[in-house]
Amino acid sequence: MKIRLAKYAGFCYGVKRAVELAESAAQSGGPCVMLGYIIHNSDVVDHLARQGVRVVERPEDVPQGCGVIIRSHGESRKTYECLEKRGARILDATCPNVKRIHQIVSQAEEQGRQPVIIGTPNHPEVTAIAGWCRHPVVLSGEEELEDWFRKEPTRKNLPLTFVSQTTSTRKIWDGCVKKAKKECTNAEFFDTICGATSKRQEEAHQFAAQCDKMVVIGDGKSSNTKRLAEICRESCPDVQLIERAADLDLSRLAQAEVVGITAGASTPAWIIKEVCDKMSDEIMEIEKSFAELLEESI
Ligand code: F3S
Repeated sequence: MKIRLAKYAGFCYGVKRAVELAESAAQSGGPCVMLGYIIHNSDVVDHLARQGVRVVERPEDVPQGCGVIIRSHGESRKTYECLEKRGARILDATCPNVKRIHQIVSQAEEQGRQPVIIGTPNHPEVTAIAGWCRHPVVLSGEEELEDWFRKEPTRKNLPLTFVSQTTSTRKIWDGCVKKAKKECTNAEFFDTICGATSKRQEEAHQFAAQCDKMVVIGDGKSSNTKRLAEICRESCPDVQLIERAADLDLSRLAQAEVVGITAGASTPAWIIKEVCDKMSDEIMEIEKSFAELLEESI
């Protein structure tokens, strides 16, 4: 059996940047909290909490004058205003790709356009983007877009500005763009799917097709990890989605010739390594490039 590790497994640059910011805040010793989970990975959040950076759920819970880390998913305009009023020291780890979307939707509204966000409602990134609009519309995909038009056909003539959640799939986005281009008279489109995400998804599709079994590592709350697993399932018959090494069912890997491993953008290298170690303790032949790839990703 061979184990292969995907080239783009693990932290993307936005998550890496956010975790580094939180770690240096923890080391500086001043009081600091994170507003919500800094990334969707409970192991990383627990690790930071042990260093004194605990999670608070609401901006109102940030102690006066305390440092506060804004997570990579970003926050709404109202949240920033609330933190500023409390005199909080804002350490902004919003991914620059997400910040760009906040600017696009804000400017669109200033120009009298209707922002339409294609993404998962209630996902923190989408909620934050919506929080930069006065009248946001959030649609999960083509079906909801069709319904939205059906309920009020005049919407097709509005000046619409479409953006996407950064971790949406190309299939969802392309479906919406195709539909809107066919129906709308004044729509503009900003393809805001993150390059790191699309590379990872494209790679996963091809990579999974070359493997008998796939292991996808990431937190159950991470939307990019869940999407990665969905993509792998399109081209590989047996995909295990696990959070950590303890969840890995080795018996399911029996008789596979090639087992592929990939991981979501919020999965730290140490978890990928633990999974690889658990597999290589049992499994025999490791692909030549595997050790190098793992080395690079740590
Ligand atoms: Fe940013 Fe893309 Fe990662 S939006 S947080 S680099 S998945």
